[in-house]
Order: sequence, then structure tokens, then C-alpha cells
Amino acid sequence: MTDTTRPAPDAQKDKVVIFDTTLRDGEQSPGATMTHDEKLEIAGLLDEMGVDIIEAGFPIASEGDFRAVSEIAKNAKNATICGLARAVYADIDRCWEAVKHAKSPRIHTFIGTSPLHRAIPNLTMDEMAERIHDTVTHARNLCDNVQWSPMDATRTEWDYLARVVEIAIKAGATTINIPDTVGYTAPVESADLIRRLIAEVPGADEVIFATHCHNDLGMATANSLAAVEGGARQIECTINGLGERAGNTALEEVVMALKVRGDIMPYTTGIDTTKIMNISRRVAAVSGFAVQYNKAIVGKNAFAHESGIHQDGMLKNAETFEIMRPEDVGLSATNLVMGKHSGRAALRSKLEELGFTLGDNELKDVFVRFKELADRKKEVYDDDLIALMRTGSSGD
Ligand code: KIV
Ligand code: ZN
Repeated sequence: MTDTTRPAPDAQKDKVVIFDTTLRDGEQSPGATMTHDEKLEIAGLLDEMGVDIIEAGFPIASEGDFRAVSEIAKNAKNATICGLARAVYADIDRCWEAVKHAKSPRIHTFIGTSPLHRAIPNLTMDEMAERIHDTVTHARNLCDNVQWSPMDATRTEWDYLARVVEIAIKAGATTINIPDTVGYTAPVESADLIRRLIAEVPGADEVIFATHCHNDLGMATANSLAAVEGGARQIECTINGLGERAGNTALEEVVMALKVRGDIMPYTTGIDTTKIMNISRRVAAVSGFAVQYNKAIVGKNAFAHESGIHQDGMLKNAETFEIMRPEDVGLSATNLVMGKHSGRAALRSKLEELGFTLGDNELKDVFVRFKELADRKKEVYDDDLIALMRTGSSGD
């Protein structure tokens, strides 16, 4: 019998806020520029799939970015709309002008705090600390919801990072984002850094800590999940992992990892995962960045099987070689690809799907011809099989 006095399992889990930056950090990838209408379309899909916060652009960067952020802010139904601003009053004012139309607006302001980044504006540590205090205060006077990021946090000296995070909190930041700007950190460090900030910085328990990882060493997803273990409750990510250089944390990866491995990571997100494939395809189409075939979750081969042993297993019990159901990410079915590694059971099943029911002897004969064909072709398509059945030829 269900115990109605206990919250449902999901209600016992901590919520992780999903902050999508496809339209800001994603669009910063060289060559990924999107048109105004394309940005609006992607923002609509992000809102529909349950993304909590959409970083819609960098309003001071161009008139086009300003218009896109303003329009997205006006149209958003549920998501908070965020714009990016450097630690400069003019940037923050322009950002506010764009996001203020949203039901729930956020200003995200940042400055590079590591030694390499401090050298660029040529500020001393004290001067930078003062700038952070002043700009966060200014943003907070405009908007109740302010996110602050120390860019290159993972290469910033611990004492200075702790100091400036405390200043930003005191000045009114409501979310503190810890970016691994160059994808340098490792999972154990990612968790420790957030844990230590929460434990040691005065006021840390009054704000949400976010993680923002880049994928230069292929560790963005692992680092984001480790940061959640350390206490972060906002993950910043992009569809298909689009983003500068090797990209950002992929939204579909962290969301599905939390869904599939809820047994060891007891956190929920508000994402409707069945909308993942559609938005992945739209982002690939509008950005011009094709998704690699073996990309986790959304790659063409992520739910495809060719080898005989795998296909046979899949036909008997899908859990033998799949840890997620294709339907959970918005696909209609697993794809059993017919090729030279396919076995008799898969061929029989595929032919039945195409309307051909064969006896054992007939199947034996067709299987020999299928293998001859498969040796010549990388992939045997439905039309090839139909031709094989009708004429006894390969159709290629
Ligand atoms: O990677 C980064 O540091 C950024 C900041 C602007 C948050 O994208
Ligand atoms: Zn970034």
C-alpha cells in the first residue's frame, strides 16, 4: 500500500536548476551564429522543455543581441530570462533594458579573477574587489535576481576567490556561478571547490552556487555532476554541448545522467526529456554544427546496434544493451542497423517489419545473399532488403 504521509520519491530529491546558455555561450562558438528568428525558436523550445533559466544573449554585444534578448524576454512563458554583462555599468544597464520585459528577469555579471585575467584590465586585487562590489550593487539596484561569476574561477587563488565571492554575496548577488572557463579542473577538484566555498565563505548558505564547465579535456559533464555533489544546485549547459572551443557541458548529458542514475545522484530537474531529440536536431540545423554520430544521448548511433550479438540481445530484452529507453529522449524506437555484423535474428525481425515472413530454409538462403550485399555496402537499407526479396538482387 502507498504511504501517503511520505513525499513522492522525486519530492525527496533536491532540485537542480537547469540554466541553458546555448544562445549566449553556445552562439559564441566560431561559426555558430543564429538569426533572430532562429534564436526565438530555440528559446521557445527551451522554455517548453522546462529549462529554468535561459541565458538569451549578451545585450551590449550588438543591436541584434539586444533585440533578441528583449524579444525572448517578452515571449517567455515560464523560464527566467537572463542576459550577460561585463563588470561595467553601461553593460549592466543595457542588459537590464533587454531582460526587464520578462516575467522573471536576471542580470548575470562577470569579471575574470585569475591572475591571467586580472592582468587584462590591469587592476590590482583591491581595485578589482571594489569593482565587483560596485557593479553587483548596481545590478542589484536594478533587478532582484543577480548572478555573479568570477571568470576562470578554477585558476583563481583560493584566498582571493573566497574574498570576492563574499563581496559579491554582500553586494546582493543571489546566485554565485563558479566557471571552469578553460575546462582545466578535474571532478574531484570541482566538488571540493564548491564544498569549500559553501563551508567557508560567510553568507554562502543564502545563495545558490552554480557550476559552468567547458569541455577542453572532455570532463565538463563529470565536473558539473561533481559540483552538484559538492553542493552546487544550478548547472549551466548548452544543447549538444555547443560552445567555445570544445564546448560547454551538454544539457542532455547532465539531465539524463541525473535521471538514469538517480540511485546515486538523488537530484531532479524540471526537464521534459522527451523533448531532447527535437531540440538537439533544431540546434544542429540552425547553428550548422552537426552532432557527432557517437555523441552521448543525441548522436545518430546512441540508440543504434549493428552487431549480431547486440541485436539478438536487444530483440530479447532491450535492457541488455541500453540503459535508457529511446522514448525517454523523444525517439520512437531503437535502431537496429543492418550491416555485415548483423545476425539472422535481426534480419528475420527486420524482414517481418517490412512485410516478409520467412521459413527457416528461406531465411538461410536470404541470409547468405544479405551477407554478400553487406560486405559490399556499409549499411543495408530497407530498400536494399526489399529489392533482395523481390528480385534476388541487391538493389545497389
Ligand atoms: O566560461 C565562462 O567563464 C563564461 C562566463 C562569462 C560565465 O562563459
Ligand atoms: Zn563559458
